Amino acid sequence: MATGSRNGILSRHPSRIYFTFILLLLIFTPRADSSWWYIGALGARVICDNIPGLVNKQRQLCQRHPDLMQSIGEGAKEWIRECQHQFRHHRWNCSTLDRDHTVFGRVMLHSSREAAFVYAISSAGVVYAITRACSQGELKICSCDAHKRGRARDDKGDFDWGGCSDNINYGIKFAKAFVDARERMVKDARAMMNLHNNRCGRMAVKRFMKLECKCHGVSGSCALRTCWLAMSDFRRTGDYLRKKYNTAIEVTMNQDGTGFMVADKDFKGTTKNELVYVENSPDYCLMDRAAGSLGTAGRVCNKSSRGTDGCEVMCCGRGYDTMRVKRVTKCECKFKWCCAVECKDCEDMVDVHTCKPHKRPDWLDLT
Ligand SMILES: *[C@@H]1O[C@H](CO)[C@@H](O)[C@H](O)[C@H]1NC(C)=O
Ligand SMILES: *[C@@H]1O[C@H](CO)[C@@H](O)[C@H](O)[C@H]1NC(C)=O
Repeated sequence: MATGSRNGILSRHPSRIYFTFILLLLIFTPRADSSWWYIGALGARVICDNIPGLVNKQRQLCQRHPDLMQSIGEGAKEWIRECQHQFRHHRWNCSTLDRDHTVFGRVMLHSSREAAFVYAISSAGVVYAITRACSQGELKICSCDAHKRGRARDDKGDFDWGGCSDNINYGIKFAKAFVDARERMVKDARAMMNLHNNRCGRMAVKRFMKLECKCHGVSGSCALRTCWLAMSDFRRTGDYLRKKYNTAIEVTMNQDGTGFMVADKDFKGTTKNELVYVENSPDYCLMDRAAGSLGTAGRVCNKSSRGTDGCEVMCCGRGYDTMRVKRVTKCECKFKWCCAVECKDCEDMVDVHTCKPHKRPDWLDLT
């Protein structure tokens, strides 16, 4: 009976309608932003065909350079950790979802400041990881910067290039080819935003290149110097991009779709080195699956801070719970000859405050 009637419906509706329906579904379902970010979660098991969200160009690069993918994967863990460090005191804390190939969840579907930051730091992370792997001789395709040879001078005088200068230009070149590949396939506001922020991230790493030198000469007189260019700690890039997140600029797409304009008509200056975003962020106060917000219920907050980690801001005015917990710290440390430091374990009680969950109106409370 049931089967018969279903067949009846099918035969009355031409399959074109179903096809159209599925097509519409595909068009209007926001593209689940699975991306190369997931390489980090795969660890050593990078198999190019199995990474969801790679576009063709990325898949080809992946197949051609498995060793670079390894570096990108290890780098991903580092920039994600840096992102979480930078946002540890924020409502949105850069948390990732386990075994989810979108990595950050639906929050990245919105063209927000947070997305701007993640795109920038992820592409910076690729530059950093590849450049470092080049210098360490882990990759077939690149090594130290061969252009840094012979004599040169800086404000302290002449020096000889020596050692291994980080090949940042190779890192930037590959990061651009690999990371930008996806965005080059579409021309919409989001793609432009991503490309812009990706570039900001790449340049942020280059900004903190520094000259490191070794002195030679009679009893360390430094009459002769050998120098090389090295990347600074990735924390510098993280701190810099975090500041850029604070001053990120809202933009809108041009009418003809060729670029974007700053939303604020009075803005003077250039967006060249600024992060840009299109949509305002949600407040991230409540759990909201559509917005990808986890909410702040249960987050630890600081009672005496007036900043984003303060209970007032973090808990969005919902209030907080306080727990007394035992804390063990090292104390009464003594230096023992030779050469150890011995400490005692001291215990004290501290208050830990955590945000209360959202109180739902009674008529919604179904539990
Ligand atoms: C981020 O916040 C969520 C709750 O909003 C929490 O479950 C998670 O542990 C936090 N993650 C990090 C890395 O602090
Ligand atoms: C809480 O905030 C205050 C004021 O900003 C700061 O001095 C203190 O170190 C913070 N405490 C913790 C545990 O972070």
